[in-house]
This record gives sequence, C-alpha cells and structure tokens, in this order.
Amino acid sequence: MKPLENDLFLKACRREPTERTPIWLMRQAGRYLPSYQALRQRYDFLTLCRTPELAAEVTLQPVEQLDVDAAILFSDILVVPEAMGLTVRIEDGLGPQIEHPVRTAADVARLVIPDPHEKLGYVLEAVRATLERLRGRVPLIGFAGAPWTLLAYMVEGSGTGDFRRARVFVREAPDVAHALLEKIAHAVARFLRAQIEAGVHAVQLFDTWAGLLDPDSFAEFALAGVRCVIRELKAAGCDDVPILLFSRGTAAWTETLAETGADVLSLDWTCDLARARRQVGDRVALQGNLDPIALLASPDIVVREARRVLARFGPGSGHIFNLGHGVLPETPVENVRRLVDTVKRESPKYHVEDREEPRLD
Ligand code: CP3
Repeated sequence: MKPLENDLFLKACRREPTERTPIWLMRQAGRYLPSYQALRQRYDFLTLCRTPELAAEVTLQPVEQLDVDAAILFSDILVVPEAMGLTVRIEDGLGPQIEHPVRTAADVARLVIPDPHEKLGYVLEAVRATLERLRGRVPLIGFAGAPWTLLAYMVEGSGTGDFRRARVFVREAPDVAHALLEKIAHAVARFLRAQIEAGVHAVQLFDTWAGLLDPDSFAEFALAGVRCVIRELKAAGCDDVPILLFSRGTAAWTETLAETGADVLSLDWTCDLARARRQVGDRVALQGNLDPIALLASPDIVVREARRVLARFGPGSGHIFNLGHGVLPETPVENVRRLVDTVKRESPKYHVEDREEPRLD
C-alpha cells in the first residue's frame, strides 16, 4: 500500500512527536454538510451505508472539504446487531429502532456471532473503496460500537431516553446479560479484525452510553466488554493498529479506562484535559474534547474555545483534537472550517520542543 502523505494522526496515537496537533471530528460526515444532505435526498441512510461506492463518497466529503487529518468510515454502530440477526431501522427524528429487542435467554441464543466477510462484507468493501479513493492522503479509521452500548440498544430497542429497560434487564437477568455481552464482544472483535485486515489504519470503539452505569455495573459491563474486545484483537496480532476508545460520561473513570489496553482515550467535554493528562501519564494518548455546542456559537467564540482546548492539553505530543461527541446537524460548516484552521495554525507552538533536533552531547 502507498505510504501515507499525512500520518500526524497515527503519530499522535502513538504519542510520537508531531509538528502540530492533528484534528478530525466525530460525525464529520453527516447532515451538517450540504453535500451529504444532497446525497440523502436520493438515498436513505442505510442504503448509503450498504453501498460501498456511496459510503466511500460520504467518507471523503469532510477530507476534501475541510482538510481534516483522518477519515472515519461512513457506517453505523448498529450494523453489528443487524448482522447478529436483529432488524434495525433508522427513522428520521426517532433515531434507531429495533424490531424485536433482546429480552430473554432464548433471544440471546438465537443471535449469531457473524462471519464479517459473509454478513458485513459491504462494510469491508466500503473500506477498500475508500482506501482506493483516499490514495494515502490521510489515514482511515474503522470503528464499532463497544459491547455495552450495543447491548443497551439491543435490549432497549431504541435510542431514546435513559435506556431504563436495558438497565433493569442487567439487574434482573445478569447471567443472560453476560451471555449477550460476550456474544457481542466476539462479534465486535471479529468485525474490527476484518476491518484491520481490509486496511483501516486505526479503530475506534464507541461507548456512548457507558456513563449511564453505576460503578459496579460500569466495571461489570462497560469495562469488561471493552477489555474483552481489546484482548481478542491483541491475541489476533493486531498490535500495530492503534485502538481508540470513546467513552462518554465517564470522567470519573479516566484512570481505569487508561488500563484497558486502548492506545487513545477519547474524552467528552466534561473532562479536564490537563487533569486527564496527569491521570493517564504516558499510558495513553488523549483525544478531544471541545463541546459540540461550541460550534453553534459565533466564529470568534469557536476560535477562542479551540485555543482553550489546545492550552488545556498544553505542550507536547499525544493529543488528537476532536469534539467531546459528534458534530450536531445544525452546525454551520463555516464554523467547522474555522475550527480546523485554528487548530492547524495555533497548535505548532505546543510542539516546539518536539521539533528540536536531538542533541548529540
Ligand atoms: O463519525 C462519522 O462521521 C462516521 C459515521 C458514524 C455514524 N454513526 C453515522 C450516522 C458513526 C461513527 C456513528 C456511530 C454511532 N451511531 C454511535 C456512536 C457515536 C455517537 O454518536 O454517540 C451511535 C450511538 C449510533 C447510533 C445512531 N445512528 C443514532 C443514535 C442515530 C440517529 C441520530 C441522528 O443523528 O439522526 C444514527 C443514524 C446516523 N448515523 C446518522 C449518521 C450520519 C444520521 C442518519 C441520517 O439521517 O442521515
């Protein structure tokens, strides 16, 4: 494969020196982009995900229009529950809906651990189509939902509210919940491994709903699920591909999350980057963590807030600029451009020491 023209993101994942801080944004391909909306007029969301050429097209839009330092494959975390045997719909305004949610041991027994080449081949095709069109400009990030977040959707049946069905379920039927968690973790690990074999340069796990759990359940479900996936990936020899972990609402668990084997922790906007950096030491790199709401403010505020995040991490390597969650649909594209430009222009001063030649004496 062609060597990468821009490997700032991968270097930052490994905490290697870079001349500036790399930036990409969660949900950088999506409804705030007019070019995405134009495609959505012609195709529904799942058709975009399932048609490799279209998924590649959408993945490239932010790379070409915003000049971000990494591409993230256009897909969704719910492709895995679907491949396991559930029927998933994404409805406008309502979000994801699952037809027959998982509620019993028999429901869990019916789920399969899919062979990704068979059931998720369209995602692997999208990886290959995207890599071809990227021609080594920036790295491509693959992803999957973390086991707990997927379990929450699979049991709840929708993504609205506080997932109370799912949270009652893990208390009432812990054994069934563990069997489900284990199946999901295997499915996710096999899927990520297949994405890596198809050529993605890094993978991110999304644990969007980890913050709903009390400390014991967090350890029992969210942490256990993530650890299982990472262990399986490492056992399969995927050591040289960075693993990023986005865990939302879990500022209290930063130190614990740094021990999961992930290479990068992606933090939400409630975390203090300076404090997190002290907590994790040199165990992991950090990604984040601008509040996506800041992108709805005037351009001057966007610049100020971007500077604040850079200053909060401070000098040195191991920071990937990102949001604390995904770009909101009502975000002005101009503000996103302003953010990317600000990070590129203002971050070199935090990497001055990184640029110095090693001394020979
Ligand atoms: O980051 C990217 O640009 C890559 C694409 C991506 C999507 N979803 C596209 C998408 C990624 C990485 C995801 C992950 C995802 N999906 C998560 C974890 C991250 C997060 O945002 O918390 C979750 C929880 C989902 C489940 C999901 N999919 C929800 C809740 C929704 C509806 C919300 C909404 O914005 O409408 C989706 C649909 C979805 N996934 C859209 C996109 C662009 C909107 C579909 C559309 O109407 O065009």
